[in-house]
Amino acid sequence: MKKLVVIDSCMRAESRTKKILDAAVAELSKRYEVEIIDVNSIDLPPLNKATYVDQRENGNIPSLAVELARKVAACDRLVVAAPFWDMSFPAILKSFFENISLFDITFTDDGTTCVGLCKCEKVLFITTRGMDIKTGDPLDQGSPYLSALSFLWGLGEVITVAATNMDYLSPDELTLRLESTIAEAVKVCEEF
Ligand SMILES: Cc1cc2nc3c(=O)[nH]c(=O)nc-3n(C[C@H](O)[C@H](O)[C@H](O)COP(=O)(O)O)c2cc1C
Repeated sequence: MKKLVVIDSCMRAESRTKKILDAAVAELSKRYEVEIIDVNSIDLPPLNKATYVDQRENGNIPSLAVELARKVAACDRLVVAAPFWDMSFPAILKSFFENISLFDITFTDDGTTCVGLCKCEKVLFITTRGMDIKTGDPLDQGSPYLSALSFLWGLGEVITVAATNMDYLSPDELTLRLESTIAEAVKVCEEF
């Protein structure tokens, strides 16, 4: 069975993003061996002067970071789920990406530029946004980042499924928006 890694950066117990993710995972589990990485429970400090300059630059990379980077580099498909925070996604997710962006695991270089090393061919990014900001709007700084990361790591096409205006819909509209986005996500997953 092909391998799929889910990077789950949902925060709230009642997370709408997580509801879409759960429906996507239910569909994807029919065809993939799914492993979920819960970003909130990963015990890796952010890269800063102490962890980058004093540790990583001296070859001290946490074994957990290496293990997770290898897992992501080896999977066939990747799903990332995160709420839209401060026009992007939560910093803890960026910190996770920085921790596992490792030379000769997720990317390398060919002497002139960086080259991705990941096996993954497609990424599904699931998010929900409070304001009515559509994917592709310059105000959305979440999905463009994932596309850029895909370029660096060689992850393939990035498909974004987003529910928008979530903080300004009536309760009925909210239910409908969530249902239609779940249906969209499941449809994407059927051919993912
Ligand atoms: C810390 C924080 C920052 C947020 N920043 C934004 C923002 O910049 N733009 C926006 O449209 N919505 C923003 N929101 C609203 C969320 O994107 C929205 O409520 C989303 O549906 C939350 O996802 P969740 O239900 O999965 O937690 C923010 C919410 C929180 C808690």
